[in-house]
Amino acid sequence: MDHFELTNGELHAEQVPLAAIAAAVGTPVYVYSRATLTRHARVFREALSVLPRVHLAFAVKSNPNLAVLKLLASEGYGADVVSAGEMHRALAAGMPGEHIVFSGVGKTQREMHEALEAGLGQFNLESEEEGVELSAIAAARGKRAAATLRVNPDVDARTHAKISTGKSENKFGVPYDQAAGIYARLSALPGLAMRGLDCHIGSQITDLEPSRAAFTKMGELMGALRGQGLTVTHMDLGGGLGVPYRAGETLPGPAEYAAMVAELTRDWDATLMFEPGRVITGNGGVLVTEVIRVKAGAVHPFVIVDAAMNDLVRPAMYDAWHDFAAVRPTGQRMTANIVGPICESSDTFAMARDTDAVGAGDLAVFRTAGAYGATMANTYNSRALVPEVMVDGDKWAVVAERIEPATILAAERVPEWL
Ligand code: LLP
Repeated sequence: MDHFELTNGELHAEQVPLAAIAAAVGTPVYVYSRATLTRHARVFREALSVLPRVHLAFAVKSNPNLAVLKLLASEGYGADVVSAGEMHRALAAGMPGEHIVFSGVGKTQREMHEALEAGLGQFNLESEEEGVELSAIAAARGKRAAATLRVNPDVDARTHAKISTGKSENKFGVPYDQAAGIYARLSALPGLAMRGLDCHIGSQITDLEPSRAAFTKMGELMGALRGQGLTVTHMDLGGGLGVPYRAGETLPGPAEYAAMVAELTRDWDATLMFEPGRVITGNGGVLVTEVIRVKAGAVHPFVIVDAAMNDLVRPAMYDAWHDFAAVRPTGQRMTANIVGPICESSDTFAMARDTDAVGAGDLAVFRTAGAYGATMANTYNSRALVPEVMVDGDKWAVVAERIEPATILAAERVPEWL
């Protein structure tokens, strides 16, 4: 459910016509709906309120925009960050350091120092090697870093291979059968306060069974660790819950997910931590674009839009589907290939798509673009870095400016010897 709807035949974000934003800011532009983001944050939190002790850490990578983080901070969310850059954003948005979890397979020593300096709440260690380094750094500062060990449960999340993280061949976490030994050794280090386990098996998970299998294995491991006298007070179950990308699609939502977790973890007696990203932000944003022209094709016409794979890379990278709709639909339909202007065949949003008929100069949107949209944008083909807007009722504001190619050019230098 979102707040991008037709009013008087024209697509609005809440009460603001998308055409008004496009006229003022230009296209392409991401538009977020505050009401939608708030609603998703609340639905997820309320669903999990059936659990006794919960910590919610929004996965910043899904949408790191400062205004979005600020909104989520005010909804009581902490953050899951994977770089010092993300950590500084979460702090800038007003999230307390102790509500921030530091994930990621390649934390540098410099990042560890910065995170300790900022008083971060928890490090999710991805290897024994990382734990040894963090312990030394923390001990030298007279600290013990609260940490969990990320375990790779070797479960197939049944999602796209490029966003699957919990199979043994993936780079994430430590192998399940070595986890107990590693946890025991890390628990003995002077600079670490090991407090639990962590897993995250993938993203856009549309079936609860893989998570059920992974969490069951995590519960068994927790029991084994406690049986050895080791402390386990926190269990981080990661993010990954999928969202509907196609109109009419129904997937297990936060309530079903929470019921599954509640059943499995009834006897865990641990604080449960979650790192939702897409389920909060996915349907909270659209990418508004203008049709440059329609070109005849061998089979279907090519609708060439002014958004491209540099603005929204998901279709090119993961064969992802984003619904495409006209901002002022005429009621006519067409079957078309929807493509961007970049000089690569992968700059294709959809092939043979049955869609609203559009022509040159018309505005259209790619829906469900609030997660892994603007944050994955780049400037390939010397295009601008796409701007972002947030709508709240009948008002709106630019929350990230367009960075023009000229600004990027101005940061480049030609050495005097050239
Ligand atoms: N926690 C960890 C450790 C993660 O690696 C991720 C996502 C999340 C939480 C949040 O997962 P979510 O709830 O958003 O599914 N760019 C890809 C998705 C990559 C996800 C990477 N990790 C896409 O556009 O589909």
